[in-house]
Amino acid sequence: MLKARVAVFVSGGGTNLQALLDAQAAGKIPSGEIVLVVSSSPAAYALTRAEKAGVPAVVCSRKELGSQEAFEAAILEKLEAYEIDIIVLAGFMSILSRDFTDRYPERMLNVHPSLIPAFCGQGYYGLRVHEAALARGVKVTGATVHFVNEIPDGGRILLQKAVPVQDGDTPEVLQRRVMEQAEWILLPQATELVCAQLVKGENQ
Ligand code: GAR
Repeated sequence: MLKARVAVFVSGGGTNLQALLDAQAAGKIPSGEIVLVVSSSPAAYALTRAEKAGVPAVVCSRKELGSQEAFEAAILEKLEAYEIDIIVLAGFMSILSRDFTDRYPERMLNVHPSLIPAFCGQGYYGLRVHEAALARGVKVTGATVHFVNEIPDGGRILLQKAVPVQDGDTPEVLQRRVMEQAEWILLPQATELVCAQLVKGENQ
């Protein structure tokens, strides 16, 4: 294997997807190639980003498919069709069952916008994480990239970066700072790390 085949899962704006695409274009993910984008929502702007970058994108909506089983089966079919080795959850807001996560042990990573174990797990996603951090009055927050297992935000931590909270921060301002200073840097780095490990292992 020369490069690991990477699928990026998204649900919304897709700025983390953009960071991955930009890193790839800049030669910063030499061990992997983004070959598929999976969106849980047909309205996600991330789909436009994929199109602009010329990466195939598919929509698998739990709502449209009617059940968790049908949702996961539809995703798995795409992953098999595209021979995916590594999954990167980049702002993916749907929960995946143990049945799914067990199929990609240490081959699925996620970016979370806090320093895990703070402000993580069920109910902590997107802007809510930053609202909770500001409500608690923490002075430092950040982002974490971790492997995905059956526990929401519970898998082994790969990379973390701290970001200061500043007086007068709104959840939106803090979210942007955490993205710029941590998420968009860590996620491409972690993706290369995991791809490189897989490629090395396969070639041994
Ligand atoms: C990001 O801040 C990401 O860390 C977070 O949602 C945002 C998605 O933004 N993910 C979670 O909260 C997952 N629990 P994006 O669509 O612009 O990348």
